[in-house]
Amino acid sequence: MASKPNDTVRVAVVGMGIGQPNGHALANNPRGQVVALCDLVEERMQSFASDLPEPVKFYTDYKEMCRDDEIDAVFVGTPNQWHVPIGLEAVRNGKHVLITKPLADSEDAAAQIVEEAESANVVNMMSLSTRFDNNCRYLGLQARNGYFGELYYARSRSVRRNGIPAWNLGFIKKGGGAFRDMGVHVLDAVWWVLGTPKPISALGTAGAKFGPFGRGYGFGREYSEEIFQQFEADDYAGGFINFEGGIGVQVESFWASHQPDEFQMELFGTEAGAKLSPLTIYRTEDGQTHDLTPEPEEQMGSWDRIANHFIECILDGIPCEAPLRHGLSVQKMMEAILKSSEIGEAVSID
Ligand SMILES: NC(=O)c1ccc[n+]([C@@H]2O[C@H](COP(=O)([O-])OP(=O)(O)OC[C@H]3O[C@@H](n4cnc5c(N)ncnc54)[C@H](O)[C@@H]3O)[C@@H](O)[C@H]2O)c1
Repeated sequence: MASKPNDTVRVAVVGMGIGQPNGHALANNPRGQVVALCDLVEERMQSFASDLPEPVKFYTDYKEMCRDDEIDAVFVGTPNQWHVPIGLEAVRNGKHVLITKPLADSEDAAAQIVEEAESANVVNMMSLSTRFDNNCRYLGLQARNGYFGELYYARSRSVRRNGIPAWNLGFIKKGGGAFRDMGVHVLDAVWWVLGTPKPISALGTAGAKFGPFGRGYGFGREYSEEIFQQFEADDYAGGFINFEGGIGVQVESFWASHQPDEFQMELFGTEAGAKLSPLTIYRTEDGQTHDLTPEPEEQMGSWDRIANHFIECILDGIPCEAPLRHGLSVQKMMEAILKSSEIGEAVSID
């Protein structure tokens, strides 16, 4: 393998689940190097390390890892409840941070990491595989070029038939749940495509109709009765968000349902509409309707694009397209939908 230039970002990866695709992309970038791994389970680090191009250090204590001067940046890919404690430790030690979705398990925690990361003056970015995907990016760039005219309404949803993940309790305990796990992807993506408008209020509904009853679990794994009893999160949530400028977004997320699997975004604009999957543009010209199926020119996998952008922000000083502040805005919208379900009325968003 070609040697890396001196201006290389030395990254530590925390969490050996989603840390693996992110870590591979960071290690394979010509200006990225994975120098350390951190997990509570040593075998998971050993197994991932054997796939990496260069030797790495192992840590089981993220605080000790954050004191290592040979680390410039930290990727955080633990269960939701640990994103902020680990992210805070990293920025307090002057490390750049890349954090998987959702930013946090609550709005307060999300606000705290944004405040501290911004005052530490480090690059702080969300790793968002949907927003950085080819088709979503294509729609966002077309929207910014004015192709759709005024985008005034959108629907976005992530629906599974049997897809409750419960391989760590973080998914199903307070702070986890379907909406923070999957709703976050479709909500972030549609909000970004719309040009990150300011949210005003949300009305939502949420609950758990499958998980606590031992139904709807997926991914070919066995789950115990004990898991079902510990279910404290939503397994579905949906709602409506009003934005400044009169834009409305309907958003839904189901870990389990009696509906087919679907991951979709639909855009309503004055000049054209679109859907994400399969990527389709709807237009009317001279009274004739046209359904176009564009193929985005710039093809790159999400993880590679995320890693590349993070490294460019650090080494070239370009503005970050997905700062943690975006994660905070999405967290506010998610928490407002969940809160609205709890109190049975619309919730204002600051
Ligand atoms: N497309 C995506 O962007 C995507 C996909 C899947 C998961 N995720 C996110 O990744 C996170 C983890 O999900 P997963 O499926 O990888 O879970 P996972 O259980 O497979 O991996 C999490 C790892 O974190 C480790 N860990 C837990 N607490 C830790 C701590 N305090 N210090 C160090 N390591 C710790 C665990 O031992 C485990 O190996 C979740 O927040 C989830 O939302 C994102």
